[in-house]
Amino acid sequence: MVLSSFLTISVLAALAFAATGDEYRAACEAVEAAISNTSKVYYPGDPSYTNGIYHFFASSQENPACVVEPGIPGDVGKILNVIDATRTPFAVKSGGHTTNPGFSSTKGIHIYTGRFSQVTYDAASGTAIIGTGLIWDVVYQRLQEHHVSVLGGRIGVGGFLLGGGYSYKTNQHGLAIDSIVGFNLVLPNGTVTCVTQSTHPDLFFGLKGGFNNFGIVTDFTMSTFPQTEVWGGQVTYSSAQFSEVRAAIADFSVYAQDPKAAVLPSYGNFRGNQFINQGIFYDDPTPPPGTFDNFTNISSLSSDLKTRSYADMITTPPVNSSAGFRGSFQMLGLSHFTQTILEAVEDELNFWSAKLTPKSGTLFSYTVEPFLPSYLSHANSPSAFPTPAARKLGKAPNPLLVYFGWNNSFYDDEFVGAVEESANRLAAIAKAEGLLSNHPLALYGNYVNSRTPLVDIYGENLPKLRALRAEIDPENVMDLAGGFKF
Ligand SMILES: Cc1cc2nc3c(=O)[nH]c(=O)nc-3n(C[C@H](O)[C@H](O)[C@H](O)COP(=O)(O)OP(=O)(O)OC[C@H]3O[C@@H](n4cnc5c(N)ncnc54)[C@H](O)[C@@H]3O)c2cc1C
Ligand SMILES: *[C@@H]1O[C@H](CO)[C@@H](O)[C@H](O)[C@H]1NC(C)=O
Ligand SMILES: *[C@@H]1O[C@H](CO)[C@@H](O)[C@H](O)[C@H]1NC(C)=O
Ligand SMILES: *[C@@H]1O[C@H](CO)[C@@H](O)[C@H](O)[C@H]1NC(C)=O
Ligand SMILES: *[C@@H]1O[C@H](CO)[C@@H](O)[C@H](O)[C@H]1NC(C)=O
Ligand SMILES: *[C@@H]1O[C@H](CO)[C@@H](O)[C@H](O)[C@H]1NC(C)=O
Ligand SMILES: *[C@@H]1O[C@H](CO)[C@@H](O)[C@H](O)[C@H]1NC(C)=O
Repeated sequence: MVLSSFLTISVLAALAFAATGDEYRAACEAVEAAISNTSKVYYPGDPSYTNGIYHFFASSQENPACVVEPGIPGDVGKILNVIDATRTPFAVKSGGHTTNPGFSSTKGIHIYTGRFSQVTYDAASGTAIIGTGLIWDVVYQRLQEHHVSVLGGRIGVGGFLLGGGYSYKTNQHGLAIDSIVGFNLVLPNGTVTCVTQSTHPDLFFGLKGGFNNFGIVTDFTMSTFPQTEVWGGQVTYSSAQFSEVRAAIADFSVYAQDPKAAVLPSYGNFRGNQFINQGIFYDDPTPPPGTFDNFTNISSLSSDLKTRSYADMITTPPVNSSAGFRGSFQMLGLSHFTQTILEAVEDELNFWSAKLTPKSGTLFSYTVEPFLPSYLSHANSPSAFPTPAARKLGKAPNPLLVYFGWNNSFYDDEFVGAVEESANRLAAIAKAEGLLSNHPLALYGNYVNSRTPLVDIYGENLPKLRALRAEIDPENVMDLAGGFKF
């Protein structure tokens, strides 16, 4: 009796010890001893620790034993060597926008890439080196003086470029990964290497969609494109206009042909208010007459469409305005959008917002991304994502992204399940409508929850990716970090 309660107490004490992260303190100190003075380790209480663990979604944040900010690729190698030797759980965080808990957070060693922040333009080769720790608006602002831009997104650089990258310029140039020409990669054994199609074709393939499976990327070299001012902005429609907007989206999805034109409508419900918030973009100072009339002719609550810089287009509206809540994503990919599927989206929005707003729901959102059928035909070499089947002309899926936000961790499982269920219900309707037939799944790793089967993302590429992973990371170092693992 006495003995057994003693055992219970020591087990509890051990658990409490593990939960504080103190058990990884020694590994943090080993990192501190190994790195150069360009890098730094931070412990709880330090403002740089708090900054390092910041995530867009509160549900994706954890408290690690320490944060390390490497300043040079060689130090990333030294950190990985300590992690391997001590088998310490770790995380690699760049922008911190993942919706999946544990994908860029840990209780162990949290590597924050914020010091990799260069934007170096080389006019001769028409490329730019972009640090993985940056936020895209900074990249556009720094390239603006050279009148060029890259195929980026609206938020964090690292996870976006290692996952795929849907952009306003996707109709013209494909996914963001299609314009990457090189990666500066620290391999799991700590060796720093430059990966291009000619130096390491297998790794070049694997990194384009393979996230953190093959090591830690410090910089990307990307093709640049000439950048004039653009035309566009945000338009907000009230629910009274849903039927008109629905018709315009369905028409645009089938009839739009100009690759410089893009729309990004999000159906939303915020605290009971229903609306469509739509990005409208044209990659020239003035769109040809009539390009967006089907949308601009609809009366709106607000509209700020105008000629502006690309950086200004991206930062309007402030993307951080919905940060700080818990969140989950799930997507489906459709051949195109019909009025029937968009009406189903409206039904889902009504259903889930009514059901879950009382359970601390903050935002219910369905984003529709109508791209041209040719959008995945711009790649010069194969990539881990999307699959070769999805790359075939006319087979590229158009994402429909379901995103719910909430504020109380008690409801985490219920919300993640609800997002998934809503995507499944829409998939059933899309199937009946013939919007899925003949189209490969090709779910996008940045738009799905962690329960998604790998084969739904990587399809027929999976065996090749698994073999490459076994060759590059025989010690399974990268398994100590979260994420989709081959
Ligand atoms: C508001 C919002 C808008 C979005 N809009 C778009 C959009 O328009 N188009 C689109 O395609 N996606 C979009 N996304 C999804 C976005 O692409 C992903 O969240 C992406 O992972 C963000 O990258 P990050 O660096 O901020 O993420 P992080 O959470 O830092 O990282 C995500 C994953 O990538 C890994 N990783 C990050 N950096 C490295 C590195 N240097 N080396 C190795 N592995 C690394 C991490 O370990 C983690 O597993 C959006 C997300 C949000 C929240
Ligand atoms: C960092 O270390 C280098 C030598 O490795 C030294 O020359 C430099 O002065 C140091 N810088 C600082 C700020 O300590
Ligand atoms: C605009 O709407 C009309 C009428 O529905 C349609 O014929 C036309 O193709 C649409 N244009 C675009 C670009 O969607
Ligand atoms: C949009 O409105 C303009 C001006 O009223 C009109 O000329 C045009 O035909 C309308 N276009 C559509 C697609 O409704
Ligand atoms: C959004 O928040 C992050 C983290 O605080 C910050 O680094 C970034 O600059 C912000 N972006 C904008 C456009 O304010
Ligand atoms: C979110 O929840 C926290 C407490 O869990 C509360 O302090 C905060 O006000 C809430 N925020 C919103 C916007 O509801
Ligand atoms: C590190 O891994 C790479 C890729 O597998 C390999 O080529 C290299 O020899 C390894 N280096 C060391 C020091 O083990």
